[in-house]
Amino acid sequence: VTYRLEPMREEHVAGVAVLETVTNQAPWSERSLHAEVHNPQATYFVALQSDAVVGFAGYWTVVDESHITNVAVHPDHRRKGLARRLMRAILEDAVAKGLTCSTLEVRAGNEAALNLYESLGFVRCGLRKGYYPNNREDAVIMWRYGPQEQPI
Ligand SMILES: CC(C)(COP(=O)(O)OP(=O)(O)OC[C@H]1O[C@@H](n2cnc3c(N)ncnc32)[C@H](O)[C@@H]1OP(=O)(O)O)[C@@H](O)C(=O)NCCC(=O)NCCS
Repeated sequence: VTYRLEPMREEHVAGVAVLETVTNQAPWSERSLHAEVHNPQATYFVALQSDAVVGFAGYWTVVDESHITNVAVHPDHRRKGLARRLMRAILEDAVAKGLTCSTLEVRAGNEAALNLYESLGFVRCGLRKGYYPNNREDAVIMWRYGPQEQPI
């Protein structure tokens, strides 16, 4: 099974919105995804199998930092390296734009995502207690510094 990555465009929004309903406890709406396609600060990539969206991830450019906003892979397509490919696409894009570091927040109980990010050089830098409104779960704040010194 082969997957291809592409920058997210309008035609992908409906598929990403469906993906969100199965991957995210607080799914993004089609409306907010449309807004992100047109947000000049935002960069998103989708993972496609035939033309179906099976993953997506993206970030906002904030001065010289990349703030990763979302990473999701459909349950039927997990553990095939897709999230790592999407994250690498983000990090490469950020380096190409001259950004110097990346940050994200992740639920403290999300072992899969914590492992993924640590394997890519992100380190735990802080905790926001009770950050997530749906269940008051803590957020772990992670940073990845020095893309020029750290291989992607
Ligand atoms: C987290 C998520 C994006 C991982 O997607 P994925 O495509 O399955 O991840 P990959 O196959 O690229 O895995 C990369 C690494 O992540 C870690 N990982 C992924 N799934 C894992 C799991 N279930 N348990 C433990 N580690 C896991 C491993 O280190 C893995 O490397 P390995 O397969 O060589 O051991 C996916 O589980 C998901 O969409 N979860 C729901 C949404 C979510 O939590 N997003 C993150 C929000 S911050």
